[in-house]
Amino acid sequence: MAKLWELASDSLNPLVEHFLSSLSVDSRLLEEELAASLAHCHMLGSCGIINPEDAAAISAVLQTMQQEYQAGRLKVDAAAEDVHSYVEQELVRRCGSAGESIHAGRSRNDQVATDLRLYLQKQFRLAEDGIMHCVKTITELAGGHVHTLMPGFTHLRKAQPISLAFHLCAWCAALERDHSRFLEARRRADECPLGSAALAGTGLPIDREQTAAELGFARPSRNAMDATADRDACVDYAAAAASLMMHLSRFCEEIILWTSEAWNFAAIAADCRTGSSIMPQKQNPDLAELIRGKSSIAIGALTSLLVLQKGVALGYARDLQEDKAIIFNLTDTVNSSLEAFSLLAAALQPHPQQMQAQLDSGYLEATDLAELLVLRGIPFRQAYRIAKQTVLKAQAGQSKIAGLGPAELASIDPSYARLGIDQSLLQCWLTAAACLNRRSHIGGTAADTVQKEIQRLQAWCASESSPTRAATSLTEEQ
Ligand code: ARG
Repeated sequence: MAKLWELASDSLNPLVEHFLSSLSVDSRLLEEELAASLAHCHMLGSCGIINPEDAAAISAVLQTMQQEYQAGRLKVDAAAEDVHSYVEQELVRRCGSAGESIHAGRSRNDQVATDLRLYLQKQFRLAEDGIMHCVKTITELAGGHVHTLMPGFTHLRKAQPISLAFHLCAWCAALERDHSRFLEARRRADECPLGSAALAGTGLPIDREQTAAELGFARPSRNAMDATADRDACVDYAAAAASLMMHLSRFCEEIILWTSEAWNFAAIAADCRTGSSIMPQKQNPDLAELIRGKSSIAIGALTSLLVLQKGVALGYARDLQEDKAIIFNLTDTVNSSLEAFSLLAAALQPHPQQMQAQLDSGYLEATDLAELLVLRGIPFRQAYRIAKQTVLKAQAGQSKIAGLGPAELASIDPSYARLGIDQSLLQCWLTAAACLNRRSHIGGTAADTVQKEIQRLQAWCASESSPTRAATSLTEEQ
């Protein structure tokens, strides 16, 4: 098919034509291209750039095409160079010379930038909603485990007692930040490039406020060259996605460890675990592994989008066509991973007794012993040394710290007797529950504190997913 830019006498080598074509990828922007073309047509008509009859004819065809698209009946012509060419050529085919007026005051450079922005606005919201859904699922699980004690780890070694709910709220804290990254990026991207044309705007008397408003953007973009050459919204999406997927990957790694035979902290419900084709006994965490694996796509996409642009002098160059394959693969990855993670979190079946059993060894209460000494007036570093000697003594006798008798405590340090710290006090002070519950400061492990944090997260989910949110435009939110 002749290109929009070809004269009848020109002809492109078919291999070159095939190489340059983006239709197989960017036909995913058909809905956005139809909406942007319709807004452009309305604006050309109301500004008197095209006559009312042509504007009406073009609008009618574009609306019919939108209906056919919704019904799944709009067949994209594989011969067109890209989705923008397809819509214009189809318009001319359906309404003749009137259709030839549509391209006044625009270029494929601002069309593709506008379509991408429209697509990304939807994708930012989808990611925000997907994250929120994960937080909802995780807090539902956490709500039942505020008193489920487990070891907390640093360096993957047992460190201090925590609750499962506290750990799950840590996941939510990271997801809350990811949500804000998508939301802030969405607001930053809320500008309409349409009317920027190729790079320098147009000499025709267009109204960019009108097209921006019709397409639901807060405002037109500020500089025509930047608007056509810039792909920051893609980079922002990818940066937020890379962070999100890195987090999901870490959580999945934890789920893989927790559900391993060696740890046995939890199981995965039958509908979310897999088996082996040869070993009948196996139960595998493939879902978690695949989300962990897919994080590589997000991290790679961010790198690809940055490298794609770094050598491209302003304005538009054809390199930028590659942004879409990267972005579509990325949005598919993010949306499917969020959905899968939410299912996985809901399928987690904790084993509280196995977790609790791990608190019996490993001296996780040692820090609380040092802090008890601090509370009785000993400087922390000295208290640390006494507590360390105490752990070594207990280890030597294969006892717990609270298992040490008066003679053993006296042999470690005279401060114990002087400060009135005896075995019965240690037995109360050093239980895992006591350690956990005295951390009642903001961000601490105490059951009440964690319960409040779960309530805050659940209230946040409820407010963000209320029906009014959907009705709130981006502009009103600001
Ligand atoms: N298919 C192109 C892309 O996705 C559209 C813009 C083409 N512009 C041009 N000047 N060749 O980037």
